[in-house]
Amino acid sequence: MKILLLGSGGREHALADALTRENTPVELIAAPGNPGIAELARLVRVNANDPREVAALAEAEQVTLVVVGPEAPLAAGVVDHLQQRGIPAFGPTMGAATVETSKADTKALMMAAGIPTAHAETHRRAREAKEAVRSRFGAPVVIKASGLAAGKGVIVCQTEAEAFDAIDRILDDRVFGEAGAECLVEAFMTGEELSLFAIADGHDVLPMIGAQDHKRLLEGDEGPNTGGMGAYTPVSFSTPSLVDDVTERIFLPTLHALRKRGTPFTGLLYAGLMLTPEGPKVVEFNCRFGDPETQAILPMLTSSLLDPILAVSRGARIGGMAPFRWRSGASVTTVVASGGYPDAPKTGFPVHLPSFSDSVRVFHAGTKRGDNGDLLTSGGRVFAVTALADSFAEAQQASRDAASRIEFEGAVYRRDIGWREASRVG
Ligand code: GLY
Repeated sequence: MKILLLGSGGREHALADALTRENTPVELIAAPGNPGIAELARLVRVNANDPREVAALAEAEQVTLVVVGPEAPLAAGVVDHLQQRGIPAFGPTMGAATVETSKADTKALMMAAGIPTAHAETHRRAREAKEAVRSRFGAPVVIKASGLAAGKGVIVCQTEAEAFDAIDRILDDRVFGEAGAECLVEAFMTGEELSLFAIADGHDVLPMIGAQDHKRLLEGDEGPNTGGMGAYTPVSFSTPSLVDDVTERIFLPTLHALRKRGTPFTGLLYAGLMLTPEGPKVVEFNCRFGDPETQAILPMLTSSLLDPILAVSRGARIGGMAPFRWRSGASVTTVVASGGYPDAPKTGFPVHLPSFSDSVRVFHAGTKRGDNGDLLTSGGRVFAVTALADSFAEAQQASRDAASRIEFEGAVYRRDIGWREASRVG
């Protein structure tokens, strides 16, 4: 089994780790990969966002399957192109990827299909968006750029003045470029957030265990939004009955609506949920595995990831497949980031990476090899450090301790990943 994995982050390192732990021996090629993935795969230099380059590589290497990690290649139509060439690919087509690439279309789809989500309006003119805030939404309110904005396009505004400023920056200043051609004015929801992933075949889903992300840079969920500073799984309130409820009321109707629209979704459907007093509601969908939740979830998996991925990529149905199986205990992932992240990360520093016990996995996210082979920092989020243990408290402690032992100039990490769970389970 030869697999081409696209991407270069911590999520892709965790995917590489899971795919090479399968019973079926896997020969892995990664494009472009990173130094951590290089320990599991042969790295190839292609532009992962160029459908023709990817297809040419997949054909030259005669791969069985292409697994797409990030959203950018999906938005660029890599899966459409691979499918046209008869190459099985895991991920949605460009049309189905709009669940993530167009928040405006997806909100309209959810509202038309009665899928639980916050009420919102979409606007192209700042004057009209501000009028919506002033007369219909008030504050707090959420302002969102409709398109892809590297995790920064969602602004929770506590006052109307903050909302007006966000609207100006998105629609008039175009701080997110064309992603801000439309903006959503959305009702503020209260509750706990939950990330729930499911492998989807267009009709049915195979859900994974729930995880909770930590989007803010600083402890206590303070500071600017980031791509995610840590995650943990399982989440005690994410019970089997909650997952069944989300499947019935959110995943399956969404797949139905996408089929009806002519853009059936196959791949990994990521539901970002808010557990409100009225039940789970969709905050957003993503069309790929989450980062860093994947680095917490996949090390807990004891059944095959490859079997359902391969099935949906070949156009088969997964309705009758056995549910995923998970080890007991808990998994906590702490992200170690560069100083200056998220606005202006300072990179290029040598890394001291100690060795860890088998219960700790260090996933590379923003690293590269220098000319002399030394490991250097090369991105905002540098490592995702996952610890597995029998209890949540032990996993949290082990993840924090392991993160503290990774050294490079300016390294920052949160010591409180999972603080909400800690207050629930002690
Ligand atoms: N963890 C947030 C994301 O992957 O978008």
